[in-house]
Amino acid sequence: MDNKHFYITTPIYYPSGKLHIGHAYCTVATDAMARYKRLQGYDVMFLTGTDEHGQKIEDKAKEAGVTPQQFVDNIVTAPGGVLDLWKLMNVQYDRFIRTTDEYHVAAIQKIFRKMYENGDIYKGSYKGKYCKPCESFWTESQLADGKCPDCGREVIDAEEEAYFFQASKYADRVRDLLLNTDFLEPKSRVHEMVNNFIDCEGGLQDLCVSRTSFTWGVPVDFDPGHVVYVWLDALFNYMTALGYQNDKYNDADRFWPADVHFVGKEIVRFHAIYWPAFLMSLDLPLPKKVYGHGWLMLDGGRMAKSKGNVVDPYMLAERYGVDALRFFLLRTFPFGTDGNFSNELLIQTINTDLANDLGNLVSRTTAMADKYFDGKLPAVRQDNPELDSGLTAMVTDLRRRYEEQMKKFQFQNALEEVFKVIQRANKYIDENAPWTLAKDMTANGTRLATVLYNLLETIRVCTVLLTPFMPESCGRIFAQLGADETARTWDSAEKWGVLPAGAEVHKGENLFPRIDITKELEELERIQEEAKKAALPAVEIEPQAEEKVDFDTFCRSDFRAVKVKDCQRVKKSDKLLKFTLDDGTGTDRQILSGIAKWYAPEDLLGKTLVAIVNLPPRKMMGQESQGMLISAVHTEKGEECLNLLMVDDKIPAGAKLC
Ligand code: MSP
Repeated sequence: MDNKHFYITTPIYYPSGKLHIGHAYCTVATDAMARYKRLQGYDVMFLTGTDEHGQKIEDKAKEAGVTPQQFVDNIVTAPGGVLDLWKLMNVQYDRFIRTTDEYHVAAIQKIFRKMYENGDIYKGSYKGKYCKPCESFWTESQLADGKCPDCGREVIDAEEEAYFFQASKYADRVRDLLLNTDFLEPKSRVHEMVNNFIDCEGGLQDLCVSRTSFTWGVPVDFDPGHVVYVWLDALFNYMTALGYQNDKYNDADRFWPADVHFVGKEIVRFHAIYWPAFLMSLDLPLPKKVYGHGWLMLDGGRMAKSKGNVVDPYMLAERYGVDALRFFLLRTFPFGTDGNFSNELLIQTINTDLANDLGNLVSRTTAMADKYFDGKLPAVRQDNPELDSGLTAMVTDLRRRYEEQMKKFQFQNALEEVFKVIQRANKYIDENAPWTLAKDMTANGTRLATVLYNLLETIRVCTVLLTPFMPESCGRIFAQLGADETARTWDSAEKWGVLPAGAEVHKGENLFPRIDITKELEELERIQEEAKKAALPAVEIEPQAEEKVDFDTFCRSDFRAVKVKDCQRVKKSDKLLKFTLDDGTGTDRQILSGIAKWYAPEDLLGKTLVAIVNLPPRKMMGQESQGMLISAVHTEKGEECLNLLMVDDKIPAGAKLC
């Protein structure tokens, strides 16, 4: 088994804000794959981490009034940060790299120097566009409607002295790698890469690999003022974390080249074009595969904190359990394409697959073993080839079918295979009606024990294969089945009859409680609305008008103090209040105002307000309004707020305001 090594990575995350369910998607997928390989007996290295340099982080730290290092520490290691999220999601990584780790920084300096010395990095000057959120350079013609083609956000002009990497020199080799090998998957991403970046007008452009307009990066040690471009710094994490160009680790021999880099589709370009070109420049072996997965979308768009449409994994894990959430992510969406997240889909998946199919199968089977045999099946068998062989054949072939899908990273299909067997087993219960067999234990006891044993074995095999996805729940199922370590192995998953003939079974607590979908959807909507509001800037004030008004025009507006003599709601309107006001003229003035949402009429009686009195009268809901009351308006946590302007009661009705 010595040569069975498996090296898998997630992208390293930008700690520029809290991570959301979209980020958790890729990490959970990587974790499931790593656990699957460990189950198969591989020596696995699962690497994840954080990509902590760059202009975006420097700017955000400035805004927050802290140093960039304090800023990233606060997101990576603080409670509720990246490390906590992976702990919560039960992500069992083997190594966590931070690009601010000293060993990585020193290694990047050596790497940059090596590439400079071998002539692949040269000095020039950069003039073009830059997307700060993506830390990407673009030419004018690559922009989409003048915006970043990856994220759709505004780009800025960038012009600075910079070092360049001669990507053009490797264009043909990268092109060949993409077109003639299985390096990049799914295949659908290959042509996009080749057509847009290599076979495009001007061919593959050299890449700007240093910056001088900010300082939060790895310093180029032979040219002060330059910091290494964040993508070069970040991509090499996959090798420095194994000990390349440093003494901290020494695992490159065992694990490089990587078996697979899982990455989101928008960063395929960096991984499938520049990453292999960098490695070619240093004459290093290339990773075996880059897999570009799709995005988890919300309401048809990409989740983004700036759009306020992110889903909080903490909240979901707390409500439904980590395993249910992990399962949902990989069961519902094909890994290679985009998937639309919805609360309804989440709850339906939990109810259908976990509560109805799996949960029910486990609880029915263990309950019957408890009830009819006191939890200990007799060691006797009585097969019914007609009924049993359909199920057993399906179960013993399941591992093969599952493996076929896992090999292609098709988590959804692998789980589909398992659930076909679970559904078949539930049908098997109905076909065999154990409750009828139990009516005459003398005649049918042996058959009943056989039926239950077959069900236990089926559950056991399915549980082995579900373990990478739901490790904690599967442990609890194994305990209920009385499955020891040998009955939980990969080898045991293609064997029938592994549980001892007289298996000891204990019904446990309900694994996946059914959720009341209507009530839950309302509750989730409420929680998510609140979170959206909380994410908005606390107070928003309308921008000031640019256009100037001359003094005379201003003076023509007649503002007066008015006293409220009467105030009533306007029938059939939930917005309008009708005021009878003393404006100092001796004749009552009637004004209608759309402020019923903020004020109860009785609270305003006797108050001294401010009104503009020389507006032309206007009809509202059939009644005349002779002017307008003045109020202050702003937005707080997404809600419009209004305060009527009130002046001291000493001010007489009719006093002019100027
Ligand atoms: N720092 C770079 C990666 C450097 S790897 C050498 C980066 N970081 S990121 O935090 O912006 O994104 C990390 C990963 O999360 C990317 O693969 C990205 O595609 C993924 N996702 C971010 N939002 C996502 C969804 N809504 N859905 C699925 N994946 C998403 O890029």
